[in-house]
Amino acid sequence: MSLLIKNGEIVTADSRYVADLLCTGETITAIGPNLTAPPEAEIIDATGKYIFPGFIDPHVHIYLPFMGTFAKDTYASASRAALVGGTTTLIEMCCPARSDDALASFELWMSQAVGKSACDFTFHMGVTKFNEQTAAQLREIVARGISSFKIFLAYKGAFGIDDTELYQTLKLAKELGVIVTAHCENETLVAERSKELLAAGLTGPGQHHESRPPRVEAEGVHHLLTFAELTGASTYIVHLSCQEALAEAVAARQRGVRVAVETLIQYLTLDKSYAELPDFEGAKYVMSPPLRDKRNQEILWHGLRDGLIQTVATDHAPFDFQSQKPMGRADFTKIPNGIPSLEERITLLYTYGVKPGKIDLHTLVNVASTQVAKLFGLFPRKGAIQPGADADLVIFDPNYRGTISAQTQSMNVDYSAFEGWPIEGRPETVTVRGQVAVRGGKFVGQTGRGQFLKRF
Ligand code: URP
Ligand code: ZN
Ligand code: ZN
Repeated sequence: MSLLIKNGEIVTADSRYVADLLCTGETITAIGPNLTAPPEAEIIDATGKYIFPGFIDPHVHIYLPFMGTFAKDTYASASRAALVGGTTTLIEMCCPARSDDALASFELWMSQAVGKSACDFTFHMGVTKFNEQTAAQLREIVARGISSFKIFLAYKGAFGIDDTELYQTLKLAKELGVIVTAHCENETLVAERSKELLAAGLTGPGQHHESRPPRVEAEGVHHLLTFAELTGASTYIVHLSCQEALAEAVAARQRGVRVAVETLIQYLTLDKSYAELPDFEGAKYVMSPPLRDKRNQEILWHGLRDGLIQTVATDHAPFDFQSQKPMGRADFTKIPNGIPSLEERITLLYTYGVKPGKIDLHTLVNVASTQVAKLFGLFPRKGAIQPGADADLVIFDPNYRGTISAQTQSMNVDYSAFEGWPIEGRPETVTVRGQVAVRGGKFVGQTGRGQFLKRF
C-alpha cells in the first residue's frame, strides 16, 4: 500500500518547504518535487495545507482508577479522539495503587491498550511504592521496553511516595538510564490546607486552588530537583502550571540538574476564574495542579518560545460532569481531578498560540511532537518527517473554521471545558504508519491497529 501526498507544505521543528511525500507500507520513503507513485497508490492533494509529523501526547490517562471512580475513556474512544485531534502516539501513565504489584499493573495497563488502540502507544511506569520486589519488577518492565518512570509527590495515601522511596527510585532510574517524570506538589501542605478550608466551611470547587497555591507546586519542584541533583537522575516535571514552579526548574537547570518541563494546553488557555464558576460549574475545571491566575499564561507561552519549557501535553483525565464530578459537591477534595482535552490540544495550540503570534509553527511541532519523541526515546521513528520515519502524518487545513462542543467530540465524556470556543484550522487527514485514520476530520481508522512502542 502506497500513499502519495502532493504539494503540501511540510513543517517540522526546524524546516518548512513545499514538496511531495511518498509513503510505502508503514514508512516515509521519499520526499521531493514531482514524485511519481506506483499505480495502486492513493494520491492526496495537500495544496494549501500544512503537513506536520504526527503529534505525540506525553501525558494522558485512559485506564485510571482514581478518587473512588474510573476515568471515562477506553483505548478505543481515547485513540479515536486523539487521532481526530492529530495525535498519533499516546504515552499513558500506568498508575498502580500502592497495594498493587508493579509488574501485574504494567500487564493490566497493556491489556487495556493492546488490540484496542487505533494509534500507537507506550507507558510511563508509575512507581507508587519502592522496595526490593518493586525494584526487581521495575528492572523487568524496563527490559520489556519502558524507559520512563512516573512518580507522584502528591496524592497522600494513594499514589504518593515518601522521600526514601523517592531517593531509591531516582537511584535506580539513574542506574538504568530511565527518565523520571514527576507530579510535583507538596502533599503535606495540600492535606493541611485542605483540612483548614473544609473546617472553615469553604467547600466549593474554587477552594481547590487555595488548597494548593503556586508555592505548594514550587516547593514540590524544588524538592524533586534537590533529590535529582544528589542522585544525578534525569527528570521531567509534568503539568507545570506557574511562574514560581518554573523559576525553581530553571534555577536547578542552571546548577546542572537534568530536568525537562512539560506544561498543559489547559494552563495556556484557561485560568482559575473558570474553577470559580457558580452552581458547581467550576468542578469541570478542577485538576491538579489547579488552573492559575491569568498572568501565568504569558509566562508559559514565553517559556515555550524560549525553550525553558520543552513540551505541551494534556494530562487527559475525563470524568463526567453529571455523574462523577458531583462526588465532591459538598467537599472539593472529593471532586475527581481532571480536565479532558486530548482531542483539542493541537487546534487550541494553533488557534490560541500560533495565530496570535505567541509561538511559531516550528515551536508547535517541537513541543507537541519532536521534543517529546526525543525525550522519550521515540525519535526519529516518531516526531520526524524524513525517509525511514513512521508515516504518521497530519495534513492540517489552516482555513478550517469551527467551534468546540461536547456534542461533536469523540472523547467519551459529557462536557467540554472549551464549549463554544471558536477554532481556526484542524487536522483534516491523519495517517498512522501509512494508513489513513482520519479523513475530512472524521475517524476512519482501525481500532486495535495501534502498536506498543518499545523504548530502550
Ligand atoms: O488533575 C489531574 N492532573 N488529574 C490526573 C491525575 C494527575 O495528577 O496527573
Ligand atoms: Zn499529576
Ligand atoms: Zn496526569
